[in-house]
Amino acid sequence: MSRSNSTANRDIAHHLHPYTNAARHAETGPIVIERGEGIYVFDDQGNRYIEALAGLWSVAVGFGEQRLVDAATAQLGKLPFYHTFAHKSNLPAIELAEKLAEITPEGLNHAFFTNSGSEANDTIIKMVWYYNNALGRPEKKKFLARNGGYHGVTVASASLTGLVNNHRDFDLPAIPVRHLTCPHFYRYGNPGETEAQFLDRLMAELETVIAEEGAETIAAFIGEPIMSAGAFCRRPRAIGPVCRRSAASTTFWSWPTR
Ligand SMILES: Cc1ncc(COP(=O)(O)O)c(C=O)c1O
Repeated sequence: MSRSNSTANRDIAHHLHPYTNAARHAETGPIVIERGEGIYVFDDQGNRYIEALAGLWSVAVGFGEQRLVDAATAQLGKLPFYHTFAHKSNLPAIELAEKLAEITPEGLNHAFFTNSGSEANDTIIKMVWYYNNALGRPEKKKFLARNGGYHGVTVASASLTGLVNNHRDFDLPAIPVRHLTCPHFYRYGNPGETEAQFLDRLMAELETVIAEEGAETIAAFIGEPIMSAGAFCRRPRAIGPVCRRSAASTTFWSWPTR
């Protein structure tokens, strides 16, 4: 098959995109982003865009930040990679773990590094299961999550994600999880219900589900302080403090132990 050598056609020919309709992509092609500067990105046609999502929430300091370029360049020259399996460590990992312990709430003193939010959530699922196995309660493995919640794309984290399209045709959920009502008052509040009553209803639902499943089978609840995919609704005011943190904006409330 002959194709012109444009960047867009090369993308269509060889690059499979996540969260993209592949058939439509073959017709429309990509917007090829070429460079970034502060809050802007520029495509290969010279168009400038305000990048309101900051990449995928991961370019919080803006594009082309010289301090990051300098730090990355220096580290690439010195030691581009080293793992931390089997008692190995390296100074950047130690310094970052130390910094995270300093700026996170009291009691969060150790960092476990992963490559993405999805992998972070898969890891914390494994840690919760491991913890419960170690304590001799192998039945305490189920997760509670919210409809509309977004927790990632890997098999376990996508199972926690409460979006039908992320489950359908992928045979998910693949781990034991129950999804509860999306805490979006505007969309899911009943006629005449106040926000406080809505919150009471959701808390009652949570307690009912725990009673149905058996508290001794529930490992943890996962929720976002601010839902992204679930329509950017904020956490209802009355919900209590954060206990465990995994991905940047994802919160685990670990369930009371027996
Ligand atoms: C709340 C939340 N959890 C998990 C993830 C998954 O992170 P990643 O895309 O880095 O795998 C995201 C990504 O947007 C997220 O917003």
